[in-house]
Amino acid sequence: KILILDFGSQFTQLIARCVREANVYCEIIPYNKNFVVDHDLKGIILSGSPCSVNDVDFPSVDIAALNSKVPVLGVCYGAQLTAKTYGGRVDKSNKREYGRAILQTKDVEDVLLKHISPNSQVWMSHSDSIVALPEGFEILATTDSIPVAAFKKTTTDSLPLYGIQFHPEVYHSTEGKVLIKNFLVSICGCTQNWTPASFINETVEKLKAQIGDGKVIMALSGGVDSTVAATLVSRAVGKNLYGIFVDNGVLRKDEFQQVLDIYKQLDLNVKGIDAKQLFYDGLKDKTDPEEKRKVIGKLFIDVFHDEALKVEGASFLGQGTIYPDVIESLSVHGPSATIKSHHNVGGLPEKMNLSLVEPLRLLFKDEVRKVGLELGIPYDLLYRHPFPGPGLAIRILGEVTAEKVTLLQDADALYTKGLKEAGLYDKVWQAGTILLPVKSVGVMGDERTYEFTVALRAVTSVDGMTADWAHLPYEFLANISNEIINNVRGINRVVYDISSKPPATIEWE
Ligand code: XMP
Repeated sequence: KILILDFGSQFTQLIARCVREANVYCEIIPYNKNFVVDHDLKGIILSGSPCSVNDVDFPSVDIAALNSKVPVLGVCYGAQLTAKTYGGRVDKSNKREYGRAILQTKDVEDVLLKHISPNSQVWMSHSDSIVALPEGFEILATTDSIPVAAFKKTTTDSLPLYGIQFHPEVYHSTEGKVLIKNFLVSICGCTQNWTPASFINETVEKLKAQIGDGKVIMALSGGVDSTVAATLVSRAVGKNLYGIFVDNGVLRKDEFQQVLDIYKQLDLNVKGIDAKQLFYDGLKDKTDPEEKRKVIGKLFIDVFHDEALKVEGASFLGQGTIYPDVIESLSVHGPSATIKSHHNVGGLPEKMNLSLVEPLRLLFKDEVRKVGLELGIPYDLLYRHPFPGPGLAIRILGEVTAEKVTLLQDADALYTKGLKEAGLYDKVWQAGTILLPVKSVGVMGDERTYEFTVALRAVTSVDGMTADWAHLPYEFLANISNEIINNVRGINRVVYDISSKPPATIEWE
């Protein structure tokens, strides 16, 4: 295992992902959190930071103590901290260095830079630089703007100690992954055996030990995280998994049945609850988006509680919590306002005295998908677009009725099918249709129509925090518009949303 000590850099998670991509297990912990150095720990990476080592209260760790036990690699701030700790000098740079730089390696053979081409492109993001290395250290590489881009400790009184000013973990450091692998394998002696298959084996064993012959209740949503988590739990405890999947009436067309079929295929013990009418009743006359969300959230908890209480003697609650949520709640900066609990099952753990089972706590989203593929979960489910918990209710502006849901489901199904057939589905981050509370005049045949409008939305994004409208081909939009108007009675006009986020949001409500 590798530990990454986080000093608050925006790139820390990317370091973890690079390490994991090299099939080496790692964890991120805040720099000021205590941990034990056991024999599993093979090396430590010190992350970057928005701080400066010349700040009064600069964040620090006892590098020498750590390095007496395992190899250490400092990245950016981590490198500056290393240099300063041993008596080197770090100054504010004359000019801040952001972006592309070319690495000029010195004439020293070193394993850290093995297989890295001369003049390799690296990515910089710093305003301080190391201007003098401590005694007993050696420069491995420079760039045009800085004298120390990579260095190592040469004295043999400790284990390997390295620092690099650039960020090997970002995409634009073209050979950054080679460097990280060198550190992991050649310097720390890690074996590259962290794979989806090994994760599954280990996790199933751990779940068996944790759960024994206890019963696990779990809310499933048809989404990636809950499906993968439930499949792992099911591998460990079989029918002692009691999954509950609620049809809240605002799922996509045929989704309830399709997802239940997949669960059956996966041999998951999941009960489908048709609560459509309950939700429609609750949503009656509700037009305010937040109010609609609250109604749906509350009814979901009610239904889930009722069902959970029917499982006699349950002692565990399964959840699909993933690593970014865990990191965020442990973060140096404290939990951020955006953190959301996935299936907010409101107070159930306390009420029923349930312990949590969270088999995905240590995985990033892309790793969850890889584990899912290894578990035999269909690709389409694992790679589908994000879908909001309140579902189509927040894509029907104004009051939600069963009729409007059907209308929107039909339009949405045509849009999704069209995107898939045109090879565009995987190119956009999220897509959906929105039913506007606007009727307008049209003409079909000789007949005048007066019907609803749907807006098509498709965005490109990385994390949903910012997004651009997807520049879908006109041809495609023309076809979809035709398809929808010709096939969905009740809709006579289709428009395309060309707003980015910010200032707009992805959803309309
Ligand atoms: P916005 O509209 O805020 O959406 O730009 C960003 C992402 O969040 C999803 N979203 C929700 N997901 N419950 C959810 O589970 C909600 O109430 C909710 N509102 C928005 C949205 O689909 C997009 O992926």
